[in-house]
Amino acid sequence: MSKIAIAPSILAADFAKIGEEVQALETAGADIIHFDVMDGNFVEKITFGSQMLQAVQANTNLPLDVHLMVTNPQNKIKDFVNAGANFISFHIEALQGNMKNKLEQAIVILQEIQSYGIEAGIAVNPKTDIADILPLLLYCNFILIMSVQAGLGGQSFIESTLQKAEKVKEYIVKNNLHVVIEMDGGITLENVHTVQQAGVTRIVAGSTIFKVKDRAKIIQDLRNGM
Ligand code: DX5
Ligand code: ZN
Repeated sequence: MSKIAIAPSILAADFAKIGEEVQALETAGADIIHFDVMDGNFVEKITFGSQMLQAVQANTNLPLDVHLMVTNPQNKIKDFVNAGANFISFHIEALQGNMKNKLEQAIVILQEIQSYGIEAGIAVNPKTDIADILPLLLYCNFILIMSVQAGLGGQSFIESTLQKAEKVKEYIVKNNLHVVIEMDGGITLENVHTVQQAGVTRIVAGSTIFKVKDRAKIIQDLRNGM
């Protein structure tokens, strides 16, 4: 099995001491910091933007994984690149028009992200048919499969999203692509094993990590799939 990366979502952190929280995650062995950007439009809540990313970056050497839950993501890419993003994903559902239009726009945005020398990913909500997205994998460094509806931490894992990961994995192998499968939402010690078995190698976890004191142990347990 490929190496598993654990990406704590700082959506579940104490925002009043974000610098300390991020440093503690790095010390505890996190591989990546997952950074949830919500705009109050594509999703109901508003979280933080590129200035906050800059502050986070000043406090860690870990790669920063920016998950854009925003409308018109194309207008925001440059800003987050300049603020230190290492990976950027955006939602297919946030783009305009029919699926064909969305796919065309997505390719342009993915290529823009890659043109800055960083990794580009497409994020997919639970209700979106994964078959529609498969052709995009050719242009992606990673795919972010949402295992809850984007917009809120602490929701319950949606089991049927595991089949999406399996389908994506199958397509990647069949077409000999190098695309990382990332999963986000409701991942716990109870389901992390099946998540890994479905082909996911980058695991995002918010509440599961932040609700316990021993961050090093929970990160290790998630990585070990137990
Ligand atoms: C949800 C966010 C997730 C969230 C995960 O919209 O994209 O990254 O922080 O939180 P948990 O692990 O608590 O579901
Ligand atoms: Zn996220």
